[in-house]
This record gives sequence, C-alpha cells and structure tokens, in this order.
Amino acid sequence: MRFLAENESLPWCSWQKLAVNLSAEPKIMGSRVTAAELRKLFKRGQAVVYVEEGNDVIGFMAAWDGPDGVLELGSIWVRSELRGQGLGNTVALELIRRLGTNRIRSFAITTNPACVAALKKAGMQVHLDWITPFSWGATCGPCDVVREENKLNCSRRNNDCILLIFLESIKD
Ligand SMILES: CC(C)(COP(=O)(O)OP(=O)(O)OC[C@H]1O[C@@H](n2cnc3c(N)ncnc32)[C@H](O)[C@@H]1OP(=O)(O)O)[C@@H](O)C(=O)NCCC(=O)NCCS
Repeated sequence: MRFLAENESLPWCSWQKLAVNLSAEPKIMGSRVTAAELRKLFKRGQAVVYVEEGNDVIGFMAAWDGPDGVLELGSIWVRSELRGQGLGNTVALELIRRLGTNRIRSFAITTNPACVAALKKAGMQVHLDWITPFSWGATCGPCDVVREENKLNCSRRNNDCILLIFLESIKD
C-alpha cells in the first residue's frame, strides 16, 4: 500500500470507481464528487490517493476550494473492509503534510466521529465559531443537507456536525 506520488496518474476508470464509492457514502457531500473533480484536485496537489497493488484506490481525501481562497478538507474515505486499522489517520495526516503552510487556510466539517478523531490526531481542533475565522459562506453556506431557511437555527451545528480548524488560523 502506498500514496500515489504527485506526478503519477490513475486510469480514468479508477477515478470513476472512486467517485461512485464516495457518492455512495451518506456522510460525504455527494453533489461534488465527480471523477473529473477528484482527478483535478489530485493534479493540483489538493488530494491524496492511497492505493494497493494494481492501483486499486483504498483511501482518499481532498482539500476543496472554498470562497476567498480557503480550503475545506473533506471527502475522506477508506474502503469499507479496511476501516478501523488506522488508514483514515494516515490519509488525513498525508493530505495535511502535503498542504504545508496552506493548512492555515483550511477547515473541515464532518458528522463522522472517526473523521473528527483522525483530524484531531492530525493537529486540528474543534472550533465552535462558524463565522470566524472562516466565514459563514465557507462553513454552513455550502451545506446541501439542511435547507437554506433552516441553516441559521440548525440544531446539528456543534452537536453531531463538527467544525475543525488549525489554531494557527486564528489571527490576532
Ligand atoms: C471516516 C473514515 C475515513 C475513517 O477511516 P478508518 O480507516 O476507519 O479510520 P482509522 O482507523 O484511522 O480511525 C480514525 C480514528 O477514528 C476513531 N474512531 C473510529 N470509529 C469511531 C467512532 N465511531 N467514534 C469515535 N472515534 C472513532 C479511531 O479510534 C481512530 O482514532 P485513534 O487513532 O485516536 O484511535 C472511514 O470510516 C470512512 O471511509 N467512512 C465513510 C466515509 C465518510 O463518512 N467520510 C467522512 C465524511 S466527512
């Protein structure tokens, strides 16, 4: 098992299969995970792809472009039969390592406790303020689970829906 190097490529059918796998996950925002988007993010250094023999993808995570140059870390995925063995931690750590100092522009939102645990292990912290330092337009704005008119009073925020940031992102 290894991470695909930044200058390597995957056959188009592998991107398609990955997109199907991600779209099938209820906690992954399905509207954006097309094969073309996943490949584009990887080529731009904004995604990590973990593969096994034969280039079968077993792990993935991306840094999606948000408004004003911010990055939303998300779409973390490990093939189901390999979960619970630390691969989620490995994938999150590698994406954050590759982002380097760009990590201070990044946040994550998740309803998956395993994802929260993996991101904390990679250095992020739970953050209760959804307006600062990352704007509402970047955090709750793009949510496609809660209807627009219910977003302001969303009861999931800071309950099962968790925002994580790097503390370095908070400027004085
Ligand atoms: C989220 C996901 C990538 C985690 O992958 P994984 O390989 O199972 O993760 P790991 O084994 O590395 O575990 C990561 C951490 O989560 C913890 N964890 C696992 N299940 C947990 C749970 N139900 N509650 C709390 N923590 C949990 C693990 O203990 C580990 O923390 P630790 O290293 O401090 O012990 C995987 O479950 C997945 O692909 N889920 C479907 C897609 C998805 O929902 N993605 C999130 C979208 S935001």
